[in-house]
Parts: sequence; structure tokens; C-alpha cells
Amino acid sequence: MTKLLGVIGDPIAHSLSPLIHNGWLRDMGFDAVYEAMQVPAGELSSALETLSQRDVLGVNVTLPHKTDALAAAKVASDAARKIGAANTLSFQADQTWSATNTDAPGFLSALGTFDQHTDSFVILGAGGSARALVYALCQQGANVVILNRTVEKAKSLADELGNQTTVYASIDQYADYIRHASIVINTTSMGYSGQTLELEQGQGRLFFDISYGKAASRSIAQADASGWRTLDGLTMLVAQAALSFEIWFGEAPDLEAGLRRCRRALEAVS
Ligand code: ATR
Repeated sequence: MTKLLGVIGDPIAHSLSPLIHNGWLRDMGFDAVYEAMQVPAGELSSALETLSQRDVLGVNVTLPHKTDALAAAKVASDAARKIGAANTLSFQADQTWSATNTDAPGFLSALGTFDQHTDSFVILGAGGSARALVYALCQQGANVVILNRTVEKAKSLADELGNQTTVYASIDQYADYIRHASIVINTTSMGYSGQTLELEQGQGRLFFDISYGKAASRSIAQADASGWRTLDGLTMLVAQAALSFEIWFGEAPDLEAGLRRCRRALEAVS
């Protein structure tokens, strides 16, 4: 019997997850299909109930359901509980859901190696995405500055998930903090409204925008032009997908193949 997988969110039509996962399912010969499922806010539980009547193996969960996904699960990983959000649910033999968060390790995998003693991070934004990043970095003992438009949210995030070295401030002060950072990560949604940062010369430092496609293209192009090494969110998207896939199937898929398919799909629409 063909197993069912998918991603639940709203909006969901533009999700690249079906492309990524169905590619891997074909490559690796698993008898399963991965679908995009549009489910409005507040209706995750009933959607999961419906899915549990079918041959479901698991689902990814994205906005606006990541907090509800954690609440719907009987068991949850430590990371999902601390972050307060889950992006991966697996349907268990006892007919309950188990929750994990692969955004945090997916982010670390995309980031690559860093030195916790000499590298210093500036994270722009303190929303849902920033939570997983701050958790992941602070677990590794990294030095993190959280800058946000609403300073109280940066403070709550630092208090909740930061470590002893975590600092927070207003995003208005980004130029001052970026001067002393070796890695700058943009998690804000400002790119969606066409806004960009004015970055000083990067001199080979890393600028990582966790969005991708049009939302990231202007900030990435400007950072490139100012001498930063750049990374967009596609690598992180594929890395978190690969970790979910591995939870469901026990085998790691080909990251490069996933990335290639995504880049091709985005080029086709740009
Ligand atoms: P996500 O889950 O993608 O992190 P979110 O929780 O809505 O989305 O968070 C969006 C982040 O972008 C927030 O940090 C938000 O700042 P506020 O907490 O002050 O709202 C930030 N953001 C959105 N638009 C921004 C803008 N124009 N300038 C600066 N920060 C912005």
C-alpha cells in the first residue's frame, strides 16, 4: 500500500517540499507519495485525525501550525519542546503522533562548521524562525546577539533560549553590532516587502538569509556586492527536509539532488 506523507500549512501552494520529497521518494524507490495540504489556522487537529484514518507515515508542518503540531503530539523531542514548535510529525504504531523539530539541526547543517570561541553571530529577527536558530546556536555554546524591531521579543527569546553570553537589542542598532560579528543571519520578513539592510563591507564574513527565492535575492545580491560570503535559505530548507525524511525512512537522501531540483524550480519561475 502506498504510504502518505505531506506538508500541512496555509498558504502552502508554493511549498517546495513536495518537489524535494517526491524526488527523493522516486530516487530511492520508496512506495510513498508526498502532498501539499492546505489547512487553515486552528484546524490542524482535525486534519491529523483525518490523516490517521489513511495510510499516513508522517507529515511536515509549517506556518501557522508549528506550535499546534507540538500540542497535538503525544511525545516530542527535547528540541521541539524547548523551541515550542514542531515541523515534523510521525504517525506511530499506537496511532499517536510524535513530534520533532528538524529546523534547528537543518539550520546547523546548512551553516556548516563554526568556532564557538572565535565566531560571533548577529541574528536579525526574533520570530518563530529565529527561535529554532537561537536554540541551535546557544546549545552549541555560540556567542549570539539578537536584534529585533520589537525589543521585548528579542529579550524574551534571549531569556528563554539564550546562553550566558546572549545579548539583545533593537534592530535599529544593527550597523553597530554587525561591525563586531563574523556571521550575520537574517530571519526577518523584511525581504518580502522589498526592504534590505545596508551592510558594511563583509571582507569574507558570512551573510545568511534564511529566506529564499525573490524574498532573499536583493539582500543576497547586496551582500555579495559588499564582499560577504552568502547563503540563502534553500540549503536549510533541503537540510530540514532531509532530516525529516530520515526520521520517516531511516535513510538519508541526497541533499545535492534536492537542492538542484529546488534551484531549477525557482529559476523557472523567476
Ligand atoms: P517567522 O516565523 O518567519 O520568523 P514571524 O514570527 O512573523 O515570522 O517573525 C517575523 C520577524 O521579522 C520578526 O522578528 C519581525 O519583527 P517584530 O517582532 O518586531 O514584528 C521581523 N520583521 C518583519 N518586518 C520587519 C521590518 N520591516 N523591519 C524589521 N523587522 C521586521
